[in-house]
Amino acid sequence: MKIFKVIAWIALIAFVGIQFFPTDRNESDLIPQTDFMLVNQVPTSIQNQLKESCYDCHSNNTKYPWYNKIQPAAWYLEDHVKEGKSELNFNEWDSLSRRRKASKLRSIIKQVESDEMPLSSYTLIHSDAVLSKAQQTEIIEYMRQLKGEAN
Ligand code: HEC
Repeated sequence: MKIFKVIAWIALIAFVGIQFFPTDRNESDLIPQTDFMLVNQVPTSIQNQLKESCYDCHSNNTKYPWYNKIQPAAWYLEDHVKEGKSELNFNEWDSLSRRRKASKLRSIIKQVESDEMPLSSYTLIHSDAVLSKAQQTEIIEYMRQLKGEAN
């Protein structure tokens, strides 16, 4: 029994210890001129959906949830934000070439169609970010239309 107590203590101390390692925060009040919403005529309903479901990981501004105060959850989210942003940053949309825009639009359509985005590890806690079938269709149709214009 004693060994379990020792392990429990070590685990507790480790858990407290990792709380002191902070993460970089992805926060900015500035919405750059290159933002997806500013350079395209995006219907309000789609704007709201993208902000709610995608912008936390694919923009320069994450609305941090309460659990971001707790490690290792904050590290996990930080990883997703860094990786998500490097693949696609809606704030910097207009700095992409026409070809890259078309390829990102194709990729957005594919990710939404196949239920891969938003990430399921995220929607588990953020139920507001879940896209209904109707919302998916609305986003996909809009992105298809944009892609048509870009070609
Ligand atoms: C919790 C964070 C998170 C959320 C929310 C999220 N993504 Fe992602 N996204 C990622 C990560 C991490 C990657 C890179 C790894 C991967 O593909 O799984 C990624 C990759 C992508 C890619 C691939 C980019 C490429 O060029 O191949 C697209 C497109 C994308 N996401 C679109 C979206 C859209 C659209 C939404 C909202 C409906 C969304 N994502 C919501 C984290 C997120």
